Amino acid sequence: MARILTTPRLVTCDPARATLADPLGVIDDAAIVIAEGLVLAVGTRAEILAGYADFPVEPAGGVITPGLVDAHTHAPWMGSRDGEYALRMAGAGYEAIAAAGGGIVASMRAVRAASVEAIAAELAARLGRMAALGVTTVECKSGYGLDEASERKQLEAIAEASNRADLPRVVPTYLALHALPPEAAGDRDAYAATVAAKWLPAIAAAGLARFVDAYVDRAAFSADQARPVLLRARDLGLGVRLHVGQFADVGGAELASALHASSVDHLEIVGPQGIAALAAAGVRAVLLPVASFTLRQDPPPIAALRAAGVRLVVGSDANPGTAPTESLPLALALAVRSYGLTPAEALLGATREAAASLGLADVTGALRPGLAADLVSWDFAHENAIVQPWGTRRTIAVLRGGRPLLPVL
Ligand code: NIG
Ligand code: FE
Repeated sequence: MARILTTPRLVTCDPARATLADPLGVIDDAAIVIAEGLVLAVGTRAEILAGYADFPVEPAGGVITPGLVDAHTHAPWMGSRDGEYALRMAGAGYEAIAAAGGGIVASMRAVRAASVEAIAAELAARLGRMAALGVTTVECKSGYGLDEASERKQLEAIAEASNRADLPRVVPTYLALHALPPEAAGDRDAYAATVAAKWLPAIAAAGLARFVDAYVDRAAFSADQARPVLLRARDLGLGVRLHVGQFADVGGAELASALHASSVDHLEIVGPQGIAALAAAGVRAVLLPVASFTLRQDPPPIAALRAAGVRLVVGSDANPGTAPTESLPLALALAVRSYGLTPAEALLGATREAAASLGLADVTGALRPGLAADLVSWDFAHENAIVQPWGTRRTIAVLRGGRPLLPVL
């Protein structure tokens, strides 16, 4: 049924309404009309109440924004790596722990031991908690199975979640090139070749992934190892997103640019050539400040990325190793506090820009007629308050397609 929400402040994130002084396209004393799950109209309260006089009106107390879009998560993980975390806090290195059989491979053991049903249940609970924080779309990567059946198991769990209207929208990403499993006996070339020739085509044929990701870094896969997998992905009609430059610049940004990837993620270490290539190819940068905070790293070269015109997305990187959180608002807080993004840049990076990086610009990420009524009513008068919650939930209502995702707790 059609209805009107009124709000003291509506943050549309609609580029058609944005100006230099108001990059978020804000309407004060506003209203939004929702019909059949879509935004029918937005405007001032006076305009909307005059134009849609027959529709029921519900007042929302605080600011309304588009539903948040988390463009980078490893959400279908199992277990915890708290023991490893304690070791790391005492000085052990992330890459050294991985080399000793911990890290991603530890999560692999937990996923391999779990059924699809168990992974799906864990994922659904996690997605529900994310929704409570204001998130209405979540990209979910595999990457903790690392063999044909176990990667597929994670993607099947993601597919189950994507069938549920009571959870956020889900975008599945195949990340077999996340780490080398022990049975591959150190042969990264052979592992990548198997993924490209055999596993990936089967995943694509089953419709289980929309994107393919690869971890291109010094202790992970080289650009040469990842390239055939990514080219195959494109041939199969899948998009490409890449983990690049978390520890070293091994040419991942250039690779992402050559492939016209949808996003390049992390970028703590990227040189001027890589940045120029990303800008020229229009590849969005997904910033993951929770990961660099956990790993005690310096921020990516934000000023250089911004100056080059690279569009910025902010993701949670939710995973049990480098970003032990489920909170995109926490990532926004750190993007502002540690990376120097403005609150508006951070919010656009978790709405419109994140949706665009997922190929969902025509579905979600802004509040304008024709897009889904994915929105959050916040317990704040102003959107700047969203980037400083420091750990508490401040949503009043979270709608996906006009329907409440709350209560989920
Ligand atoms: O984005 N760097 C690679 N992948 C994840 C970490 C995954 C893990 O440690 O389990 C990341 O930081
Ligand atoms: Fe990641």
